[in-house]
Amino acid sequence: MLETIRGAMSWAYELSRGACGELSRTDAEVLLISLLGISRAELKAHEERGLSHTEQRAFKSHMQRYMSGEPVSYITGRQPFWTLDLEVDPSVLIPRPETELLVEAAIEVMPDQHAHVLDLGTGCGAIALALSVERPSWELVAVDRSIEALAVASRNYAGIGERHTIGHVEFRQSDWFSDIERRFDLVIANPPYVALHDPLYEGSGFEPNEALFSGRTGLEALHTIIANSPLHLRPAGWLLVEHGNLQGESVREMMGDAGFYRIETRQDLAGHDRITLASFPLETSSGAWMPGQPCGCPEQNPLVAK
Ligand SMILES: C[S@@+](CC[C@H](N)C(=O)[O-])C[C@H]1O[C@@H](n2cnc3c(N)ncnc32)[C@H](O)[C@@H]1O
Repeated sequence: MLETIRGAMSWAYELSRGACGELSRTDAEVLLISLLGISRAELKAHEERGLSHTEQRAFKSHMQRYMSGEPVSYITGRQPFWTLDLEVDPSVLIPRPETELLVEAAIEVMPDQHAHVLDLGTGCGAIALALSVERPSWELVAVDRSIEALAVASRNYAGIGERHTIGHVEFRQSDWFSDIERRFDLVIANPPYVALHDPLYEGSGFEPNEALFSGRTGLEALHTIIANSPLHLRPAGWLLVEHGNLQGESVREMMGDAGFYRIETRQDLAGHDRITLASFPLETSSGAWMPGQPCGCPEQNPLVAK
């Protein structure tokens, strides 16, 4: 039954029926396309193409992994993000389409040709690499606490560099800002934001806990990032964060407490609060911070000192 592409597709549907819910056509196609190294158009055009014994064995093994709940992206080792095709493995979160909102917002708020940008919790490098391809003149620093994630991100950087014009991205191990000494025009982050023991969370169980969970409320990493960003932003710099659909209000409040202004939450395609952006005050020639109170100056803001 598995001798041809058409046969393998039918076999996969039959196998999955009832066992793991219906296999989606897209998932089956993605698994076969990746295995055979062909395009979707070729798959469609050559459904009678024969599969070798090795290909049949490999497809069976991929289907077993799929039926155990493993995400397709970990099985194929690839995930599209923005205009890029990224390597992923279980040491990194699989980049989500909604995270592209952060990339769009960064390009919108930072029209300058020369910007210094910090990507916190870079994972496979998705945000930093998308920005660097869009704006090769920007200088990016991308950090993660996970050395394994940084290895994946570095390989993605090298691979993309062979196919796209890309700017300078430095990957560095850091516990959020712990190894960051300088200030940036833009700090961008998609941190872990799921509460430990969240009864509503439905994950695959395959992605790294460190990339998903952040303390009892899910807001711990966001709090650390927002509270410390004023120490690492230049005047009039921007902070952009992704967060959970019910966390918009808390994030706006934390940003206000940290002295940010022009705070705005944006929704994803499902209409859920997904990212919040805010600007850091502009320092005037007299040294005063504009506009508004409380002053964004870290020394005068109790939240920032935490
Ligand atoms: C939600 S994932 C985001 C990955 C990637 N930026 C994306 O959007 O697909 C969060 C990332 O933060 C990293 N991380 C978690 N705690 C960290 C910490 N204390 N310091 C630095 N990175 C951390 C995780 O390893 C993970 O790669």
